[in-house]
Amino acid sequence: MNKLSRMAELVGLLEKEQTLTDSDLRELFDILAESCSEDADRCVQIREEIPAARCTEEEALLYAAARRAREKYYGNDVYLRGLIEFTNYCRNNCYYCGIRTGNTRIDRYRLDKDTILECCREGYALGFRTFVLQGGEDPYFANSINGDERLCDIVSSIHGEFPDCAVTLSIGERSRESYQRLFDAGARRYLLRHEAASPDLYRTLHPSEMSLENRKRCLYDLKEIGYQVGAGLMVGPPGQTTEHLIEDLKYLQELQPDMIGIGPYIPQADTPFGRSTAKCAQGLDKTQKLQLTLRLLAVLRILFPYALIPSTTALASLDPHGRILGLQAGANVIMPNLSPASARENYSIYDNKLYTGAESAQGMTALQKQVEAAGYQIVTDIGDVKCH
Ligand code: 5AD
Repeated sequence: MNKLSRMAELVGLLEKEQTLTDSDLRELFDILAESCSEDADRCVQIREEIPAARCTEEEALLYAAARRAREKYYGNDVYLRGLIEFTNYCRNNCYYCGIRTGNTRIDRYRLDKDTILECCREGYALGFRTFVLQGGEDPYFANSINGDERLCDIVSSIHGEFPDCAVTLSIGERSRESYQRLFDAGARRYLLRHEAASPDLYRTLHPSEMSLENRKRCLYDLKEIGYQVGAGLMVGPPGQTTEHLIEDLKYLQELQPDMIGIGPYIPQADTPFGRSTAKCAQGLDKTQKLQLTLRLLAVLRILFPYALIPSTTALASLDPHGRILGLQAGANVIMPNLSPASARENYSIYDNKLYTGAESAQGMTALQKQVEAAGYQIVTDIGDVKCH
């Protein structure tokens, strides 16, 4: 059987069963990788106006199935989430992340409650109905009662002023009690990428004081409390292989998250990975990361048709068309940055991070036009997960 027919078969199976065996998944990723390196002439243009949207016929089959899955649950709607990066202090020392505690070359900041509320007000006027408070694991807001109270106060103030909006938290690992207090204060969603479901890869990316077990414990605690939960990973960090990605997919199938965030790994110069000149510390090259992120987005969409999947800032930072390509591969969420400009510069988890400008009315109109030109529409909606 030729590769294109085999691909059609595998995509058909994936669509029908919403699962694949490890060996079928391996074959699917292998065929996609080979089709690209073998025969660039068989590339098809997904959309004329986006030159970067060239893919092989095998990929086109996958993307078409992903779009069918997305349309079934979400039509062409794109949900907005307003990202507020409210603290770049972090107690952790992840080897890839620019706000790691060991990085002495960034200015640390935390936003106060009034500044955060002002960001929400601006966002609300522009149609945002979800606010995502994202930050490092800042001891100031950490698991002591005091730390919790500071955060709970911010959460309940947002919740009180914007009762028709969702408050999402993305602030790392905490105790179950702390997650519960934040839920009681009004938070309803939580993003905590698992980063790597393989213990070996997890260990390569994180120092020994962090553990995959605790990360998983957090995700299950959050679920049990009643949060809509988001997990996810970076694509193409040093050491990641297809086998690791298959483990990630299996873990996600077990967890059944409501949201799944993936984006390309992008080096940050003041981190151990970013500083290293060793070839193995670089991860995949840019084109490979773009291709693999899009393929994985499509596979995720088919496996989790109900899920909220963002076309991430990292994808948009990697390629000028990244955000739209992500939507075309099956993503249905965009997370523009609502943080004040001064804060944005210092939230440098990776280099050359993109700012959409969508926090201004002008920027928002531009984003809307871009999204509409690709056949999608941004909606003013709280954008809860569809039942699964
Ligand atoms: N490149 C891409 N993504 C990164 N993150 C952290 N550092 C990087 C990087 N260098 C991701 C992590 C984290 C999320 C907030 O950002 O996956 O969970």
